[in-house]
Amino acid sequence: MLPSQALLPSVVFALAALQAFASDTFLAAVYEHAVILPQLTHEPISHSHALALMNKNMDVLEGAIKEAAQKGARIIVTPEDGIYGWLFTRESIYPYLEDIPDPVVDWIPCMDPSRFGPAPVQERLSCMARNNSIYVVANIGDKKPCNSSDPKCPSDGRYQYNTDVVFDPQGKLVARYHKYNLFVTERQFNYPKEAELVTFETPFGKFGIFTCFDILFHDPAVVLVSKMQVDTVLFPTAWMNVLPFLTAIEFHSAWAMGMRVNVLAANTHNNSMEMTGSGIYSPAGARAYFYNMETEDGHLLIAELDVHPRLSPATPPAVTWNSYALSVERLSQNDHEFSGIIFEEHFTFTELTKPEGNLTLCQKDLCCHLSYKMAEKRDDEVYVLGVFDGLHVVEGRYYMQVCTLLKCLSTNLSSCGQPVEMAQTKFEMFSLSGTFGTSYVFPEVLYSGVQLAPGEFEVLSDGRLMSKTKPTKPIIAVALFGRCYERDHEKQDPQPTDPPHDAHN
Ligand SMILES: *[C@@H]1O[C@H](CO)[C@@H](O)[C@H](O)[C@H]1NC(C)=O
Ligand SMILES: *[C@@H]1O[C@H](CO)[C@@H](O)[C@H](O)[C@H]1NC(C)=O
Ligand SMILES: *[C@@H]1O[C@H](CO)[C@@H](O)[C@H](O)[C@H]1NC(C)=O
Ligand SMILES: *[C@@H]1O[C@H](CO)[C@@H](O)[C@H](O)[C@H]1NC(C)=O
Ligand SMILES: *[C@@H]1O[C@H](CO)[C@@H](O)[C@H](O)[C@H]1NC(C)=O
Repeated sequence: MLPSQALLPSVVFALAALQAFASDTFLAAVYEHAVILPQLTHEPISHSHALALMNKNMDVLEGAIKEAAQKGARIIVTPEDGIYGWLFTRESIYPYLEDIPDPVVDWIPCMDPSRFGPAPVQERLSCMARNNSIYVVANIGDKKPCNSSDPKCPSDGRYQYNTDVVFDPQGKLVARYHKYNLFVTERQFNYPKEAELVTFETPFGKFGIFTCFDILFHDPAVVLVSKMQVDTVLFPTAWMNVLPFLTAIEFHSAWAMGMRVNVLAANTHNNSMEMTGSGIYSPAGARAYFYNMETEDGHLLIAELDVHPRLSPATPPAVTWNSYALSVERLSQNDHEFSGIIFEEHFTFTELTKPEGNLTLCQKDLCCHLSYKMAEKRDDEVYVLGVFDGLHVVEGRYYMQVCTLLKCLSTNLSSCGQPVEMAQTKFEMFSLSGTFGTSYVFPEVLYSGVQLAPGEFEVLSDGRLMSKTKPTKPIIAVALFGRCYERDHEKQDPQPTDPPHDAHN
């Protein structure tokens, strides 16, 4: 329907304004920090020793903050545990904690440091933001005294929270977020009573914040994006990489695409803990990322993002993840299906025996379709199509639906699903889709050397994850990682008792 002549000028004007608005961009920074760790002691150390260690880490962060600000970044994210590390008991972390007030108190610690008692860490972070006129995002520990008037109060009379803080360019505390989904090893911290939805507005969009393991769950991560409509997610993390689907750069970039939001992910750097992988991710792919197992040093990333990614022409359209997969017939009968373990779960696999083909493979309610063409079928490398539909219960409880194209570790099919970092097989094209029962699906493409493939693949609105150009590097994994959040509390199926049966070659 055409607007009437009278309305036309205002419509044109509104469209022009929207376009100008949509094309606004800003520079963002993330810093992957090689945390200086405290020495392991059995006795809790003094507060001044704790502060000395935290100042050493903040000295390094300050260098990154200054450099980011000089290069024009408006906001910088630093990692989870980035100021004191991760090896603590409840008692030994206590000297590192500060009482962090609710941001409604309107506080600039740099100007009024002792308003809420001693807060040297908040003071210094606030001054770094203020001195450099940049938003600073950091992860520190909060302590909140409690007593017997609260039946949940821990016996030592305090709550301890893994906490993200944000200071604006004046140094004001504008956000405080208590991590909701603690990882199993974080016994030094308490769970907040409910998931906090922490957002704040800036001249360059609406921001939301959550931490590390939170990204696998519905609350608060999905709610911040789908209900609170944030433009950019701030994501401090201390992420241990797990191939083939949960390596930091791979999963965090996929989450940005699947949720159609910007993500600023800052990881800690520690090779022996498999911690590396930070990035500046848009819904169309990584704008910048860092993955490096060769260096022990930190790394600063700066890249441009759209202020309002949902309005940006660069952002792909919304996806109906099962549309294509439900519309096609089963592509093939597989002559050989076998079982293998990824993440302690029984995946169903079938081998890609030919240089090109169309395959369908199902497990429970999920059927995956793969079309592929290799440049050359090598004798020394084996690829499989894999499918999994079920509840994962190890180190967290999450229902997954996964379709994947994977390189096996060796030509022995028993090795399929084990972590693989390198490959040589070049593909001409791939197209992967599945009959997902969820609208939360995260598209992953990982090349040889654990590298992302920005710009080389796309997700069509019918749910096909496809190569866009001929992949420039060999593939180690392509996956559609679906999460069925509403099924996380189901009972687990009985596990098959027979071991995955042996391969034929
Ligand atoms: C901030 O700037 C002031 C004055 O220039 C300086 O004294 C202070 O050390 C700076 N603080 C930080 C954290 O950069
Ligand atoms: C117990 O805690 C509540 C809330 O924090 C506080 O109002 C109250 O004064 C405390 N009572 C004692 C005896 O410390
Ligand atoms: C990495 O972390 C481990 C403990 O988790 C620690 O022993 C090691 O020293 C760290 N590496 C570096 C380079 O700091
Ligand atoms: C796979 O399917 C496509 C069309 O869907 C067809 O063009 C192609 O020939 C098929 N490839 C094989 C090897 O069957
Ligand atoms: C394949 O690997 C499995 C498990 O590692 C082993 O038991 C089996 O002997 C291997 N098969 C061949 C043919 O090497």
